[in-house]
Amino acid sequence: MSRHRFAFVASISLLIATVALPAAAQRDIRFDAYAVPETGTVVVPVREGNVASGAFADLDAVTGGALQRAVNAADFKGRSDSRLDLPGIGNFDRVLLIGVGKDAVNPRALEDFGGLLGQDGARSAAPRIEVLWRGDEAGAASHIAFGAALGQYRFDKYRSSNDGDGARAGQGELVIRTPAGAAAAADYAAEWQPVAEAVALSRDLVTEPGNVIWPETFVERARESLAGLPNVSIEVLDEKDMERLGMGSILAVGQGSPRPPRMLVMRYNGGNAGDRPVAFVGKGITFDTGGISIKGSSGMWRMKYDMTGAAVVTGAIKALAGRGAPVNAVAVAALAENMPSGTASRPGDVIRTASGKTYEIMSTDAEGRMVLVDALWYVQDRDDPAVVIDIATLTGAIVGALGGDHAGLFSRHDDLAAQLTAAGEASGDLVWRMPMLPSYGTGLRSPIADLRNGGGSPSAGTAAHFIGEWIDKDRPWAHLDIAGMAWIETGGKPTSPAGATAFGVRLFDQYVRQNHEN
Ligand code: BES
Ligand code: MN
Ligand code: ZN
Repeated sequence: MSRHRFAFVASISLLIATVALPAAAQRDIRFDAYAVPETGTVVVPVREGNVASGAFADLDAVTGGALQRAVNAADFKGRSDSRLDLPGIGNFDRVLLIGVGKDAVNPRALEDFGGLLGQDGARSAAPRIEVLWRGDEAGAASHIAFGAALGQYRFDKYRSSNDGDGARAGQGELVIRTPAGAAAAADYAAEWQPVAEAVALSRDLVTEPGNVIWPETFVERARESLAGLPNVSIEVLDEKDMERLGMGSILAVGQGSPRPPRMLVMRYNGGNAGDRPVAFVGKGITFDTGGISIKGSSGMWRMKYDMTGAAVVTGAIKALAGRGAPVNAVAVAALAENMPSGTASRPGDVIRTASGKTYEIMSTDAEGRMVLVDALWYVQDRDDPAVVIDIATLTGAIVGALGGDHAGLFSRHDDLAAQLTAAGEASGDLVWRMPMLPSYGTGLRSPIADLRNGGGSPSAGTAAHFIGEWIDKDRPWAHLDIAGMAWIETGGKPTSPAGATAFGVRLFDQYVRQNHEN
């Protein structure tokens, strides 16, 4: 494609990006003193096995027992994540009961409650929704707000009309009425709102199509979204820098596209000077056609989300800097577009990576590991990180093994594996440890180079093994294969509506909270 034509296509894409509606509507989330409203739209948590208690009882009194009659008639039990919607009850426009189950309410359950009411609020046209929460612990109320912020996420910027699917809905405010009031507001603003905003940034980047986000525009978006955050610095390697550094691997992936690759390095120094950082490295294929080893056409649009790892490490820096975490962290987004063309790399090509190690390309569709290894070499060489975690939509095989419930975790460091598993449970971004046998290496032998980039079985494990060949001996390292977690096709989860999940932002935030802050 000529430069002219490319410039034309690029300017059309920018047009699409600027003419669109403003960013999606989001309700302002506020806190207020606990008080029982007499009109309006109200959301109330309901305990299973003890329905007639707490805020429900307070509100039932105001309706002269109408709520209790409705619960009896509908046989509503208050099971976890169940709902009873009561429009026009008593003097209220609407009362929405959400079950929170009978187990002790932990932060995850509070976030799920918040997520369900946030999703509901995103579809409702009510200008003001009030949530009643009788608990007086600031942390609990702020987890509800966090869940609501995650649940109300929408992406509307390309809708041109204000009706139809309800672009007018989801505006106004969400007021959490709790005795914790001001303390909850302060806790939310300091600890969780920055993480919710980081998740929204990552979801935006992932949802944007390949004609809007390519390596250079990803870098621009990341710059805009990190601008003004304290202790953050950004370094960008362009193709000249990569050539100088001998990064033949990421260059090989990008060379089929007129949109050149970029390596985006984001450093956040919130910890003590000289403390070795935690490193997060993300796969950033802004579109994966497979290259010359081209994919089938059905569902290929999904490969716009093949840059989720890059979006998530960017979000992790935004979250850590936004809440002022006392830690040093470095994130690398390894950005390239994998296109077939006359300049694309071929199966059989031998590639020299920045570390000096060579490999033979078996499939140009195994491009994730190709961009990651140059990024991993660079961050180890420049930042000497205390731990390295890479995150990538790497293999279809991990989707077959774990589906959409867990990311695959590969690590030879038991402590790190245990820490990431615990952070997964605390954050809701669940991971499942997979084996990593030394024998996986036999499938990656090449007759003419140090390695080859594919072949061998199991495919998710050999992919992890390949990446591991670029990790310094004894440096704690984990690899997360999130191919099954990046996108939810239908349904969604309370804190992740259908679409981009930004899986990993909350995991990395929790991992840092639990292991690198004292
Ligand atoms: N981006 C894909 C993996 C993927 C699949 C992500 C489904 C999300 C959903 C990756 O680059 C890829 O093509 N992997 C190949 C590797 C193979 C050629 C060794 C795969 O898994 O088939
Ligand atoms: Mn691929
Ligand atoms: Zn890919």
